[in-house]
This record gives sequence, C-alpha cells and structure tokens, in this order.
Amino acid sequence: MQIKIEKVVYPGKSLSMQEGKVIFTDEGLPDEIVEIEPLKTKSNYIEAKTIHTIEQSDKRVMPRCNHYKACSPYQYINYDYQLLIKEKQIKDDFAHHLGQELKNFKIKSSQNIWEYRNKLRLNVIWNNGADTLAYHDPNYQNRFVPIDSCFLASGKINKLFIATIKLINEHILQFIEEIEIKESKYSGGLLLVLFGKQNIEHLRLSKHLAFLEENFPLAGIVYIENNENRKKEIVALGKNYIEEEILNKKFHIGAQSFFQINMGMLQILIEDINQTVRLCNFGIIADLYCGIGTFGVILSDKAIKIIGVESSKENIYFLKKNIKINKIENYDIYEGTSEDSAPKILEEKLNILIVDPPRKGLDRLMCQKLLKNCPKNIFYISCNPSTLIRDLKMLLPKYKLVKMHGYDFFPHTPHIETFTHLARKQ
Ligand SMILES: C[S@@+](CC[C@H](N)C(=O)[O-])C[C@H]1O[C@@H](n2cnc3c(N)ncnc32)[C@H](O)[C@@H]1O
Repeated sequence: MQIKIEKVVYPGKSLSMQEGKVIFTDEGLPDEIVEIEPLKTKSNYIEAKTIHTIEQSDKRVMPRCNHYKACSPYQYINYDYQLLIKEKQIKDDFAHHLGQELKNFKIKSSQNIWEYRNKLRLNVIWNNGADTLAYHDPNYQNRFVPIDSCFLASGKINKLFIATIKLINEHILQFIEEIEIKESKYSGGLLLVLFGKQNIEHLRLSKHLAFLEENFPLAGIVYIENNENRKKEIVALGKNYIEEEILNKKFHIGAQSFFQINMGMLQILIEDINQTVRLCNFGIIADLYCGIGTFGVILSDKAIKIIGVESSKENIYFLKKNIKINKIENYDIYEGTSEDSAPKILEEKLNILIVDPPRKGLDRLMCQKLLKNCPKNIFYISCNPSTLIRDLKMLLPKYKLVKMHGYDFFPHTPHIETFTHLARKQ
C-alpha cells in the first residue's frame, strides 16, 4: 500500500490520512510517498511499518547505525530538520490541547549530535556460548536488537564494551546479563557496571577483568546483583562512582545514580535555570525529584535555602555526598516521594519550586497539592511533552506560562526536553 506522509507526530510516528482513516507508520517525511505494510488495523487508525520510500524528501540523510530504527529512529532525517519537527510537534500540541500559541518556541541544538551520550546500557545475549551485545527495545518486553557499535556514545565507551564482552566470553561469565558504561566528561574516567542475578565473589570478577584496568581509564568496576530478593552492589575494582564538574561544583555520580546523559546540553539547561532564578531573586528553592542534587547544588550559593526531595536510596546517598564535597550548609533533604513531602514543603515560603519528574510526569494528586498552596514560581523540567501538557492543563488556571525552552538532549531520537517557567497569577 502506498501513502503520502503529512507530518511526523510525537513520539516519532509518520502520519498520513487515507479516506478519513489515520495511518501511523514508523518512517517517512512530509510529502514523501512511501510503501507500507499494515501491522494493526483498528476502527479509526492503522499502525504500519515503512517498507521503502518511493518519492524521497531532500531532508533525508543516510543513517549511521544499522539498528537505528530501534533506538534512534530520526537518524534518517537531517539534523536541522529534526529540530524543526520537534518544535512543530510542541507548538501543534500546545495549541491543540492548551489553546496556547508558542510562537517563539525554539529547541536549542546539541553541540555534539554524535557521541553525546555519557552512558550506555546493553544486554548480553548468549547464543550457544557465542555472546553478543543487544539493545533492549523499551517498547517490547522481549525484543533485543543486536548491536556492534553505537554512534550516540563515544569511541571510548564502544571500545570498553567490546573488550568487556570479549572477556565475558573468554571466562564464560554467564551470570552477567547487562553491561552499563558511564563516562565522565570532566575526568575522562569510565565506570563499568555489570548486572546479574547471581551472588558472586568480587575477587572472581576483579581477577577476570584485570586486563580492563590496564587498558582503560577505569574509575571502577561494580557488579549489581539484582534479583527478586535483594539488590546488592559489589565493588570489584576502584570506586563505585565517577566524578563530574559543572559550574565549579563537583558531583559524584554512583553506579546506580540518575544523571542526565548529554553533558553539553545539561550545562545549557542549567545556565538557563540559573538566569531565570536570578530574575526571580533566588529566595527559598525546593528541588523536587532532585536525583543526586544537580540543580540545587548549583543554585545553593545564592539561595536562602534549598530543599531537595528524592525517593531513590542510591540517589540520596550521592546527594548527601555532593552536598558534603561542595561544603553546602543551606540544603535540607527530604527522603521519600515528592507527593508525600509536598504538603510539608509547601508550608515554607517558597519562591521557586523546581520539578523534574520521570516520564510519567506529576500525577493528578501532586498537581492538586501544588494548587492548594501555590508556590510563586514553578520551574517544570520535562522529558515528556504529553505528560507536561496533561499537568499544565491542571496548573494553568492558576499560573501564567512565562516562557518555555526546548533542549535537544537526545539527537536522532524523538525525545524532547523542555524547561517551562510558570508564575502564579496575582
Ligand atoms: C528525571 S530525574 C531528575 C533528576 C535530577 N533533577 C537531575 O537532573 O539529575 C527524576 C528523579 O526523580 C526520582 N523520583 C522518581 N519518582 C519520584 C517520586 N515519586 N518522588 C521523588 N523522587 C522521585 C528519580 O529517582 C530520579 O532521580
């Protein structure tokens, strides 16, 4: 079946209208004619995959990775056009769902559009002893796409993956199910994190993996035993963290810590947050979903007080360390969920409330709690425009959207990161 593509919609599907029915396919640019194979037919739409392109757009480029459709499906689109597509998606969705015109909305481009990831996690697939690395497609429980290299991560990360898998194969370390590598852009150090379900001795791992220490700038090797009964971290070699530095603040990022994956973009986002905080005159700042403290630690110099809220134990451990190594004395920590901590925190005279939730956004209850005791300014950092729009629908009756910026943290993928400044209506 041949269709003409109208537009690319969030999160990354190409849309066409045929006889009143919407067709979503996995690849195709506006005005292209593509041949598709329908995969699912519903009463009001069809899901399909593109077999080949019959009439090509001049915005098409050659993808670099063979497996790009699984993890970075925009690789076939020229980079400037990727940004335009993302900007249009946000503008269209804001106009459609919120009646808001975002005339000047822009997405700031990533300085590096390749090798920008400072972290990569792959699965180890065992096939009669000959193991391979694979990307676990998050959209499918059992879909593992074999990968020999990833152009979104640095050459150093790729080389360490290859060396590690070789050793795993040589020493038949079949208990290792996943490998994650974190890279510090500040020190160049690499942290190798191995995941499995078995309880192992650290000596066994350090003996077999000693070659890596001699040939790579390793900060450490950590094994994480992750089964139904327990989660245990074993440091096989060196440290269980890497170090980063942003705006003269030091950060220790643990083997299991959350940290943004594009350092260049993170610096730009933080500079924008910093500037907006300055315009709002600092005061007391709460940083909900604070992770290891990235935003609050940087803002602590001029704020009266920072209140950080985080639910993960691993992140809390490194948050405490980061407060200590930066000698910060005006930081209060709430360990637990933002939802539970919100009523207490909102009793404080907050000038700014920063929220940076996971993809599922703030839930309804959380928005209701915010609306009961509206802080003066809300800075909403979002990695999912759909949940952002859902939450703004609840918040906007009491807040004015002052400004919104986009950041291309994830070139070649449909993901969009945004920073929205909301000010309480008088
Ligand atoms: C998108 S990350 C943001 C982290 C931090 N702002 C940063 O940029 O490094 C979301 C964080 O929220 C934490 N988290 C998830 N659900 C939470 C909840 N209900 N309450 C508090 N923290 C939560 C996660 O552990 C994670 O650290």
